[in-house]
Amino acid sequence: MSNEIESVLHETRVFPPPQDFVKQANVSGQAAYQALLDESDRDPDGFWGRHAREHLTWRKPFTQVLDESKAPFYKWFGDGELNVSENCLDVNLKNGNANKVAIIFEADGGEVKKVTYQQLYELVCKFANGLKSLGYKSGDRSVIYLPMSIEAVVAMQACARLGITHSVVFGGFSAKSLHERITDVGASLVITADEQMRGGKAITLKPAVDEAFAMGGCEAVRHCVVYKRTGGKVAWDAKRDIWMHELADNQSAECAPVAVNAEHPLFILYTSGSTGKPKGVQHSSGGYLLWAKLTMQWVFDAKPNDVFWCTADVGWVTGHTYITYGPLAAGLTQIVFEGVPTYPDAGRFWKMIQDHKATIFYTAPTAIRSLIKASEANAAHHPKSFDLSSLRLLGSVGEPINPEAWMWYHNNVGGGRCPIVDTWWQTETGGHMITPMPGATPLKPGSCTTRLPGITAAIVDETGGDVEAGHGGFLVIKRPWPSMIRNIWGDPDRYISSYFPSELGGYYLAGDGAQCDKDGCFWIMGRIDDVLNVSGHRLGTMEVESALVSHELVAEAAVVGRPDATTGEAVVAFVVLKRSRPEGDEAIAIGKQLRDWVAKEIGPIAKPKEIRFGDNLPKTRSGKIMRRLLRVVAKGEKVTQDVSTLENPAILDQLSSPV
Ligand code: PRX
Repeated sequence: MSNEIESVLHETRVFPPPQDFVKQANVSGQAAYQALLDESDRDPDGFWGRHAREHLTWRKPFTQVLDESKAPFYKWFGDGELNVSENCLDVNLKNGNANKVAIIFEADGGEVKKVTYQQLYELVCKFANGLKSLGYKSGDRSVIYLPMSIEAVVAMQACARLGITHSVVFGGFSAKSLHERITDVGASLVITADEQMRGGKAITLKPAVDEAFAMGGCEAVRHCVVYKRTGGKVAWDAKRDIWMHELADNQSAECAPVAVNAEHPLFILYTSGSTGKPKGVQHSSGGYLLWAKLTMQWVFDAKPNDVFWCTADVGWVTGHTYITYGPLAAGLTQIVFEGVPTYPDAGRFWKMIQDHKATIFYTAPTAIRSLIKASEANAAHHPKSFDLSSLRLLGSVGEPINPEAWMWYHNNVGGGRCPIVDTWWQTETGGHMITPMPGATPLKPGSCTTRLPGITAAIVDETGGDVEAGHGGFLVIKRPWPSMIRNIWGDPDRYISSYFPSELGGYYLAGDGAQCDKDGCFWIMGRIDDVLNVSGHRLGTMEVESALVSHELVAEAAVVGRPDATTGEAVVAFVVLKRSRPEGDEAIAIGKQLRDWVAKEIGPIAKPKEIRFGDNLPKTRSGKIMRRLLRVVAKGEKVTQDVSTLENPAILDQLSSPV
């Protein structure tokens, strides 16, 4: 066990929910939480059915809550019909929110634009009508490659309105990654922008789409709709390309939502797994939206006057559930931010909270850690230099938050008065799973605390047997839940083998190691597979390895993670070249070439922080690379483990010295 994990497990500070918060909370006090938990354990179908009826507007009511007949291909509310966009927009117009601000958009350069629910509804309807005029309909699939913008939300909602399944690709992914997703998902429509603005710089987007098309295999794509963000020059194919505003402008501002089955795939979002090929995580419409809305109310304690801000990008699941769908379904005003936390300076987040009077702020530990450094270095950028008194609740997501960062966040951003919800969940889970309920759960820095009602999270051993408190094991979810992954797009066998291995008797395997303490609080210890978590982004080591070995100079590569004070984990690559091992300046030059190559193949987030060259890699006599030894070497530690099975022990010394 590493030192960091050990110190986290010795954390003893407990912060009970503040009385003022408890008094007004949607789930108020431990007894209220326990009552929901008991109800969900006693009668899961009754519990989920009740919430689905209370919280969603159905076009055709469901008669069956859970259909397990084809487990693990579960169906929730399977004979019901609804429309997700109707539940996010039309419902708000009916509920008196037409003139309420839905989105406060702040651009990279600081310009602010606000849209009300009525305006958002009209934007979505016009764009949906535009798509309809091009012949797109329920059952089609789109790829969305857009910057953070009102238009990104509009594009996703318009697809949902017509029953088009969207697959959003994060704007930082390369043309090659984009191509992989366009072809795998079988998209007939791509929606992109000319450029995006990040940190004062324009970064092109459409050229990556053009490059992806040029790679071939995208013939199913009939149109590429382009949002004009900057007006930068773009190449144009008049048969295929069409401006978003030209498509939408003359359309009617009314578009009837298309009722779809509750199981209709709302979206497919690619995420990394243990093999080189990303998995297309398929989500439903009804079950997914139910949990997006319910967790807004339970975990974020959503109230009509809240100004909610989730800093994630819509390219990740957090941006789907807690930007595009959850906050709108809950009728909130939310902030959508185009830029980065450090531009024009590291006070940007705090200034935005102050300017827009944000009440709920949800971000990633990586962002917090980098802002700790920056704001401790310059008082003008420190949260204490801003008026953050509007805040009442803070959240964290994407990776474990170390107790020091938690305490800093609590004291400096939350003024010691705001509970922090450390939310554990995954692309596959659709929404929060293990997290405090802020008006009920005592907080422990570094722990995501307890399971949500309806979520049967547990720690088990390799045969599925329960592991007692204080011992590590596999994090599983024992019973299905409505917002769970439904399939891996086009690969049902991989769905079963990745998430429901037969040894575990039907439990959902999350892929995280964890342990529970005597209070039932979960402590996440990291992935059990070859998946890294770099700045809260999931990255498969095999993906990076495949990118490296596709370079003409590389013979072999092994990629591991190393703990990093800012990014959580950092990518370290061990590389054997086809030619002799480079040294000195040459090693630095080739290292740079390979890092740029990985950025081009996958995206800048996958760039190895460090590359070490060797004559060989440590292998067993049967030829298997011993990654566990490489992990030790990458950390700069001495290998003390038994290396007797190693074919070439001397290689460890060579790989121990960074270039
Ligand atoms: O390892 C866990 C970590 O992030 C993984 C899921 O990554 P992704 O699918 O990209 O979704 C991230 C946003 C929901 C998990 O398997 N993780 C996520 N949240 C936490 C976390 N680890 C510890 N604490 C968390 N709060």
